[in-house]
Amino acid sequence: MGDETPLSLLIAELAADRRWREPEAFFSRADAMDRLDLYLVGVEPGDSRDSAERLIEAMEAIDSVFYDDLRERVRRGEGGAALSPWIRTEVLPGQHYDALDALLADLLAIDEPEIDSASLPPEMVRYQPSPARHIVDGIRRARISAGDVVLDLGSGLGHVPMLVHLLTGARTRGVEREVVYVDCATRAASALALAEVTFIAADAREVDLAGVDVFYLFTPFLGTVLRDVLARIEAEAARRPVRVVALGPCARTFARMPWLYCDDPDPSATDRIVVFRSRP
Ligand SMILES: C[S@@+](CC[C@H](N)C(=O)[O-])C[C@H]1O[C@@H](n2cnc3c(N)ncnc32)[C@H](O)[C@@H]1O
Repeated sequence: MGDETPLSLLIAELAADRRWREPEAFFSRADAMDRLDLYLVGVEPGDSRDSAERLIEAMEAIDSVFYDDLRERVRRGEGGAALSPWIRTEVLPGQHYDALDALLADLLAIDEPEIDSASLPPEMVRYQPSPARHIVDGIRRARISAGDVVLDLGSGLGHVPMLVHLLTGARTRGVEREVVYVDCATRAASALALAEVTFIAADAREVDLAGVDVFYLFTPFLGTVLRDVLARIEAEAARRPVRVVALGPCARTFARMPWLYCDDPDPSATDRIVVFRSRP
């Protein structure tokens, strides 16, 4: 009992617990690997270190098979079915991330490039991905389906267009001003054979909005930039019905637009998805 350490106790716990060996238990494995890495700091070579490293290798090997299988199913067009075990109908508000984000991060395998946020023009918001459960909630609330064309304004690394397409079959696009983000998103979509998902490197004020049914915005910009983009969406809404799916403070701006209506009890909510529809 004398040489029990946090690392040796964790190794014993994981050796006795078979659950992390289930292929679908990627979240338990991620958590266990984080804890092992933490407890390994400063541990000298020896039995405990060897056991911990063997456990990490075993977990990585299971993850690798699990994600290869998931990617293969996505490439075969079975993305919706492959992801369905992790899709929840109850959606917690707030900005935190959960198991679905971890799954998506490994599935899409996007390396986030370094961007100098200091060079961000005024009124434009730096990259932060929408928590995946909100994207799922947006699909449900806006009733996005295979016949829709969806545009994410300020699409960052492309999670929204990719997940929306995977879950609905809709044609999806992203417009993003950072070219390196667009390159990463395009590579990820192409590696998963998502031919109906495209990304454009442009300012959202200049991109072609023709044919778009659903506009998604996770508060990508504020002030006059948001006002200019809003005016362009309003011009599209004069031609056909459109839906606006908003997350974050931009919902307050949409809530003030007389050409939009919203049946949400709180159209200015900023910690969850709010859906607006153009008036006929
Ligand atoms: C808060 S992030 C949202 C990312 C993504 N839509 C999501 O929900 O996961 C905002 C993104 O908008 C981009 N952005 C800001 N201003 C923009 C503009 N004028 N035109 C295009 N993209 C812009 C930023 O570079 C950033 O990647």
